[in-house]
Parts: sequence; C-alpha cells; structure tokens
Amino acid sequence: MHSGNEARDWLDAADVVRIRDGFARVAANADGFTADFYARLFELAPTTRALFPDDLTTQREKLKHMLVMLIGSLDRPLQLKPALAALGDRHRSYGVVKADFVVVGRALLDTLAAHLGDSFTPADRAAWADLYGRITAVMTSGTQRNPATAPALCTASG
Ligand code: HEM
Repeated sequence: MHSGNEARDWLDAADVVRIRDGFARVAANADGFTADFYARLFELAPTTRALFPDDLTTQREKLKHMLVMLIGSLDRPLQLKPALAALGDRHRSYGVVKADFVVVGRALLDTLAAHLGDSFTPADRAAWADLYGRITAVMTSGTQRNPATAPALCTASG
C-alpha cells in the first residue's frame, strides 16, 4: 500500500519488509555473498570481468556498503532516486551498457537464492526482481547533470 506522493510508483511496504528480511539474513555473511555474486556474474558473463579491476577486494566492499545504504533507504525513494541516477551516470563512464544490467540482475537473484535456500520464496524473488528492475530503470535513465555534483548515496564510492 502506498502513502503520499513520495511512495508513488515505488515498492509497496510489504515488499520493503520482505526485501529487508532477506537482506538481513545474507548480510550475516556479507563477504561470502559479494564474493559469490562476482563469481556467479563472471561465470554467466565472462566478458564483464574485464570491466572490473583484477583485485576485487575494494569493489566487494563498495558493493556491500552500497547494498546496506540502499536497503536502508528503500522507504525513502525521493532520497534514493537521485543517488541511483548518479550511480548510473558513473556506470556509463565505467563502460557499463543497459544489456549488462540483465545479467547482473540474474547473478544477484541466483546468489540470493543460493544463500537463502528454501526460505527464498517465489514472492521474495518477485519482490527483489521488482526492486532490481526499478533500480535499473533509474540507473539507466541518467541524471542529465554532472555526476560529480549529484548527491551521493554512498560516500565510500567514487
Ligand atoms: C543494482 C545495480 C548496481 C549497483 C547497486 C552497483 C553498485 C556499484 C558500486 C557501489 C560501485 C562502486 C563505484 C561507484 O559508486 O561508482 C560500482 C562500480 C562498478 N560497477 Fe556496479 N552496480 C550495479 C550494476 C552494475 C552493472 C549492471 C555492471 C555491469 C557489469 C556494473 C559494473 C561496475 C563496474 C565496472 C564498476 C567500476 C569498477 C572499478 O573500476 O572500480 N555494475 N557498482
């Protein structure tokens, strides 16, 4: 159920709870989760490996930090959307194209399924897929402004 303009065209409250519950369970082993995520991504789409630095340690930390901030802000889409649009602008500068988001989404959902096991229900998967689709839409739409001056969701990233 949506309340107020801010929440329009965003996840409903039940899905926010669903996503947060699942994330809390994978966050207990966040390092293992991000390591598995990249391993799965590079297995599904080996050409994406070249986009990333050889040493993924910092990248895994940044992803972990971003996920924590993202999941924490799910009920504040007005704050979240400009930060995601700026993240999308930076991704274009890394050479990421729209098609890459499809395989990254699959790697993310598969990693969640592997880490959550039977507790990852079809409704959970649908909620995460919905969230990922919304993030992709915002990230690939662009901010139409300088990413250096756009708001940052995650100060550790750059
Ligand atoms: C939900 C979608 C995504 C999220 C939340 C996300 C998150 C992040 C974060 C937090 C960073 C750190 C740098 C920064 O903040 O600018 C980053 C960098 C990066 N991401 Fe993503 N990302 C997403 C989708 C993708 C996709 C689809 C690709 C394509 C393979 C990708 C490839 C990269 C690359 C190549 C870097 C830079 C690595 C480097 O040179 O240090 N990301 N991402």
